[in-house]
Amino acid sequence: MPATPHDVAALAALHGASFHRGWDEAEFADMLGRTDTLVHVMRRGRAVVGFVASRIAADESEILSIALQPSERGRGLSGALLRSHLGHLAGRGVKTVFLDVEEHNRPALALYARLGFRQVGRRERYYRDPAGAQTAALVLRRDLW
Ligand SMILES: CC(C)(COP(=O)(O)OP(=O)(O)OC[C@H]1O[C@@H](n2cnc3c(N)ncnc32)[C@H](O)[C@@H]1OP(=O)(O)O)[C@@H](O)C(=O)NCCC(=O)NCCS
Repeated sequence: MPATPHDVAALAALHGASFHRGWDEAEFADMLGRTDTLVHVMRRGRAVVGFVASRIAADESEILSIALQPSERGRGLSGALLRSHLGHLAGRGVKTVFLDVEEHNRPALALYARLGFRQVGRRERYYRDPAGAQTAALVLRRDLW
């Protein structure tokens, strides 16, 4: 379901628990105020336990981020979240979806492969992990229609 302005604190907390460089509440508030950006959440009861965000330009979009709360991972729940999000992107006229993923992020790579994304590029030394090591981003693509 679409995220609402009431979700920004939960979104920032979830992002901070999932990534080395967290996005703050203001960044999520900005995304929710933009018509070119879609943010969907997965809820358990009233709690936000997952989200996915994309930015649209013409008939292409980029997945900016996806994450589940750590306690919700490893059970395939992100597949339904992402599949439904791709349906909304298609409904907005998006034909092609791109994303960047860290080359060693096995859960994310498995998720994207399962949903039909294929590698189309590689950006060397794109990420820096908490220990300072530089790793590559793989650029993935999926055509929606
Ligand atoms: C990426 C993420 C959204 C995947 O969500 P999920 O629902 O936990 O994923 P799934 O349970 O569907 O598991 C995905 C695959 O990874 C595998 N997997 C899960 N944990 C794993 C691990 N620690 N090491 C290797 N493989 C793992 C699963 O077996 C599954 O493989 P399969 O499709 O071949 O069965 C979730 O792990 C997450 O929030 N990670 C932190 C944020 C992040 O890295 N986001 C992606 C940024 S590009």
